[in-house]
Amino acid sequence: MAKKKAALGKKARSARPRKKSVAKRKPVSKTPAKRKAAKRQATRRKPPAKKTTKAKAKAPAAPEPTPEKPRTRETAESMSKRQRDISISEFFTKNRHLLGFDNPRRALLTTIKEAVDNSLDACEEAGIVPEILIEVKPIPNQPDRFTVRVRDNGPGIVKKQIPNIFGKLLYGSKFHRLKMARGQQGIGISAAGMYGQLTTGQPVRITSRTAPRKPAHYYEITIDTQKNEPRIQKDDEIDWDNGHGTMVEIDLEAKYQKGRQSIDEYIDQTAIANPHVSIAYTTPDGEKRVYQRSTEDLPPEAREIKPHPYGVELGILIKMLHSTRSRTVKGCLQADFSRVSSRVASEILEKAEIAERARPSRIARGEADRLLQAIQNTKVMNPPTDCISPIGEELILKGLKQIEADFYTSVTRSPSVYRGNPFLVEVGIAYGGSLPEEGSVKVLRYANRVPLLYQQGACAITAAVSETSWKSYGLAQSGNNLPAGPAVILVHLASVWVPFTSESKEAIAHYPEIVKDIKLALQECGRRMSVHIKRRRREHEAAKKRDYISSYIPHISNALRNILDLNDRGERKITRVLTDVLEKSRKL
Ligand SMILES: Nc1ncnc2c1ncn2[C@@H]1O[C@H](COP(=O)(O)OP(=O)(O)O)[C@@H](O)[C@H]1O
Ligand SMILES: [Mg+2]
Repeated sequence: MAKKKAALGKKARSARPRKKSVAKRKPVSKTPAKRKAAKRQATRRKPPAKKTTKAKAKAPAAPEPTPEKPRTRETAESMSKRQRDISISEFFTKNRHLLGFDNPRRALLTTIKEAVDNSLDACEEAGIVPEILIEVKPIPNQPDRFTVRVRDNGPGIVKKQIPNIFGKLLYGSKFHRLKMARGQQGIGISAAGMYGQLTTGQPVRITSRTAPRKPAHYYEITIDTQKNEPRIQKDDEIDWDNGHGTMVEIDLEAKYQKGRQSIDEYIDQTAIANPHVSIAYTTPDGEKRVYQRSTEDLPPEAREIKPHPYGVELGILIKMLHSTRSRTVKGCLQADFSRVSSRVASEILEKAEIAERARPSRIARGEADRLLQAIQNTKVMNPPTDCISPIGEELILKGLKQIEADFYTSVTRSPSVYRGNPFLVEVGIAYGGSLPEEGSVKVLRYANRVPLLYQQGACAITAAVSETSWKSYGLAQSGNNLPAGPAVILVHLASVWVPFTSESKEAIAHYPEIVKDIKLALQECGRRMSVHIKRRRREHEAAKKRDYISSYIPHISNALRNILDLNDRGERKITRVLTDVLEKSRKL
């Protein structure tokens, strides 16, 4: 402390003479530019009336400059009058691009994505095979406005919770737990509703029912953005033909455009990675598309886990120590973290020189620091991995077969850990067939089974694909770019906490552990693909040779006919024999 103070004192002292030296240096400036600058500074300090006359004298041709207002000088007190809380809704209204609502086309996709993600999460958590209905309808006589309707057969939502879920940002059931899910932050659907309200003035309409014998509730909700609180516009009990489930309807300003990054592409890709889901989709043009599920089995249930000690940071550790139900530090370590046995807890506490029976709430900051150090220096088993539910190699192949190709392969790697969070990588490749020979391969990126369509360049998946050397696997590649050729590469990252680069959840951050695992999976699939490509090339070359030789056969037969004086039959026989020999000698 004493040292710090002394240093501070030195700093303060040294600041004073520096000011003086600046003042001294001013008149010494010699270059014309510097002199002008000095003059300008000097005039600024003078009262405005004087300044204008000087400016006039110097530049008579220039238009008369408006007199400069004297600078307003705020004080701490005057500033304090404007300092206040910023509501999260107001923040995201101004920064809606952070949530994926930066243009009308993307807003349509984000809205549908948030609603569908919620429906799928809810159905899977309730053990229900999902049946999703998506409808996008242009609003008559209102150009660029659409109604989005998403309906599920999930568990429904308890009446009391409906207003907060749809009318309050940062409200949800998934943020405070470690379990693989599509949503994590509790921002998704309420942000979509807020965007709708902002662009069309209409409330979000929700219908939900938790069981056939219970009533269906219909709500119309807006968000009070200043308070980040729901305002209930309508609350009714209605007749509904859906036994249980939820339907969300949002009117919003949007743009429907087919092709890349469209809602159609999102739904196609969702069906690939979620073969247990049936989707009925009505496009804005009124076209009906049905995606039938290819399996009745739900993905294996993901279990909730506790944080792994390697992943906690000091602030979190202190918070956990203060909010634990355990009476001793040892008890807290064992009960609130995953993979900490009695022996491991004792080892950690011994290294940290903290008594096992110490009260967790009494642990001071310095002790917590030592505890964190001790955790890092103690061997703790990797976290359990049943908190992740992969798609699986077989179902990835099934999904990929919706793309017409002539070779398919897939790999599901065993789980790894980044920052204490378990994750798992899956890769699938479809090659050849009707896929275009020219141009870059198509990369299908997924995080927790959700297709990622935007920000491809910023994503760790793209980096891993580009940094893999594809030439040795039979694809063209220039430098560290995406490879080119007739292939689709699917990469799925599943984790209890996907490290997205922003709230719009479109790109995965570049954690080295994640990039490494993706590359290993890509390499394995790449090797299998290269075996196929090489065999196909050999076949192709052999066929070319055969065609070449067989084009000579009629000439040879004809020549032999002349030499041996044969008739038509003889010539045909020779042709047949030679063709047979060529076919039988074929190696491939
Ligand atoms: N269709 C639905 N069925 C059941 N529960 C839902 C549905 N949609 C949303 N929820 C609940 O509302 C919460 C908030 O949703 P959301 O704002 O999208 O945040 P997140 O999905 O990140 O938790 C979810 O955590 C979930 O508990
Ligand atoms: Mg969500």
